[in-house]
Amino acid sequence: DKGNHRHFMAKEIHEQPEVVAHTLSHYIDMAKESVVLPGELPFEWNKIERVSISACGTAYYAGLVAKYWFERYARLPVEIDVASEFRYREAPLRKGDLALFVSQSGETADTLASLRYAKEQGLHVLSVVNVQTSTIARESDVIMPTLAGPEIGVASTKAFTCQLSVLACLAIAAGRARGAISDAEERKLVRALIEVPRHMNETLTLEGDIEALARDLGKSSDVLYLGRGTSYPLALEGALKLKEISYIHAEGYAAGELKHGPIALIDETMPVIVTAPYDSVFEKTVSNMQEVAARGGRIILLTDSKGAAEATMPGVTIITLPDMPSSVTPLVYALPVQLLAYYTAVALGTDIDQPRNLAKSVTVE
Ligand code: F6R
Repeated sequence: DKGNHRHFMAKEIHEQPEVVAHTLSHYIDMAKESVVLPGELPFEWNKIERVSISACGTAYYAGLVAKYWFERYARLPVEIDVASEFRYREAPLRKGDLALFVSQSGETADTLASLRYAKEQGLHVLSVVNVQTSTIARESDVIMPTLAGPEIGVASTKAFTCQLSVLACLAIAAGRARGAISDAEERKLVRALIEVPRHMNETLTLEGDIEALARDLGKSSDVLYLGRGTSYPLALEGALKLKEISYIHAEGYAAGELKHGPIALIDETMPVIVTAPYDSVFEKTVSNMQEVAARGGRIILLTDSKGAAEATMPGVTIITLPDMPSSVTPLVYALPVQLLAYYTAVALGTDIDQPRNLAKSVTVE
């Protein structure tokens, strides 16, 4: 049932404040403002030397955000691969370390094969899954469920932000157990998470502005997405969403890589979508935007009020999101990124919930 939405994707985008709040409520003691994981872990965070994350597609991008969080908040080294690479690259793995898998369906063939490989190597297997009866869920030592509810649209939306919610809580739990963050820091991070559904609701009020921008985006044959830090995976996710449902060619890049190649593509016809909250790397991203502007490029900037005040180069259209701590920006910035892809596809009239050549669950390699 799509409710009063035209597509499941729209419904699922709009469900995010609710399902993220629901997911967080299973991982957070709201009164104590601390993380309480819903299951016992079969390992101690202090004994883990490295986390190996593998996943595919959007779930991989959630893992990529988590890499920044685990390293920053838990001082825990993370390696991350797309599952189809992890299983074949003969990585030297250490027995007793942690292998983390992220999957909405819990049936993705490459992710499952990587899980079995990690298990054979004696790693602890923890999975973040949406379908709790799935094969990946059954074969894991421990699961941390996302409570997104069934995701029908082929393009993943609410599963992604729920994965980020769970991964953020895991990184905070690891940080506390490893003594990498203080109680006060934990409370601050948790408070920021609790506020996410409110910021999401506020962001959804920008829908009309985003729809207007998307009508123009639909006229482009190529789109470039740029971001730094935890906004870099969002650039990758934005490009994937646009490709999947609008069939427009899009690429996501770390903003700093612009001058190492993709800048050659910039001209007046190529839109550049920049996800850049005002955080510790914002100024760096501004200089990348200046490089785009100097070549006549058109920029759509997703930022906050401070970022909007500083990004004054010509050719920029700004979508101003609410201000929030930088620890949680990936969760909220996911929404305008999804909406841009969604409304571009609406303008083009593609089959949004069933894009050509794609399946909801990829059970073959
Ligand atoms: C993107 C998308 C796919 C999936 C990928 C992994 O919108 O839906 O890229 O994210 O196939 O699927 P799961 O999470 O089920 O393992």
